[in-house]
Amino acid sequence: MTQTPTDLKGFLADCQQRVETALQQFLPGEHTLPPQLHAAMRYAVLDGGKRIRPVLVYAAGHALGTTGRQLDVAACAIECIHVYSLIHDDLPAMDDDDLRRGKPSCHKAFGEAQAILAGDALQAQAFYLLAHADMGNLPAQRRLVMIEQLALASGSRGMVGGQAIDLASVGKTLDIAELEDMHIHKTGMLIRAAVLLGALCAENLDEAVKRALDHYGKYIGLAFQVQDDILDVTGNTEQLGKQAGADHALDKPTYPALLGLAGARERARELHEAALEALSGLDDRADPLRWISQYIVERSA
Ligand code: IPE
Ligand code: IPE
Ligand code: MG
Ligand code: MG
Ligand code: MG
Repeated sequence: MTQTPTDLKGFLADCQQRVETALQQFLPGEHTLPPQLHAAMRYAVLDGGKRIRPVLVYAAGHALGTTGRQLDVAACAIECIHVYSLIHDDLPAMDDDDLRRGKPSCHKAFGEAQAILAGDALQAQAFYLLAHADMGNLPAQRRLVMIEQLALASGSRGMVGGQAIDLASVGKTLDIAELEDMHIHKTGMLIRAAVLLGALCAENLDEAVKRALDHYGKYIGLAFQVQDDILDVTGNTEQLGKQAGADHALDKPTYPALLGLAGARERARELHEAALEALSGLDDRADPLRWISQYIVERSA
């Protein structure tokens, strides 16, 4: 990875390459028994996606002067949880989406049963990595905190809880507080956990800095889903690599539906500003985090 990143593009490319290599290594090979299951897992995880959560792990580590192997482990664990959530999110019982990351969704390529199992196995793989993989000199206690935070962020009081609210809200009109609560859970908490796990990779972690990073993670986590909702309206399927207009078709409550496009964009911008403010006490090693916040609200895919 570049020693001193100078812009977002280079930083993203370096992190994406680094996590791709690590994921290749950490996932069981496709000839491992049972081969269909491992092929489905590798199909869904490898060679696709923006890898924004892993990038955030690396960026949080960079902000604290950490570059070690423990970042790869945390980055891969988060990405495994994320991909499991995408596989299940696309299932017919959930959003019923046939396209993901520019290719057929996992259940389209491997069948529903294998897709469900691939998601289940990726979830377990995330925690196996955090418990088992080489993390250099990082104390075991830190691994425990990472496992705790990732479990909390992805379970019924985090991402899965948010997904349950999402499905229960179809066809309903939520007020802005309810919509925000849903987004904070279904998407925000895993992104927030990515920043936190990156910070937890640093050997000396100051409590105030950790809190600042956690605030940053909270704002960009929500901003990410606001922009995802916006892109569902303004983006096209080819560019997004997933079906555009899916939220409207399923009558999902979204930011543009509630606030209009201009209102949703304004909210994303406010969250970006709040994220930058949270980082105001950090030096220029936090610049990649600042660039990512801007990218999250300006991205077109
Ligand atoms: C899509 O996440 C699902 C949401 C939580 C909004 P991403 O937009 O990060 O998807 P990939 O990983 O780049 O495919
Ligand atoms: C997904 O939200 C949140 C997850 C936990 C996967 P969406 O349903 O809006 O994600 P996309 O638009 O299908 O990627
Ligand atoms: Mg969904
Ligand atoms: Mg979906
Ligand atoms: Mg969406």
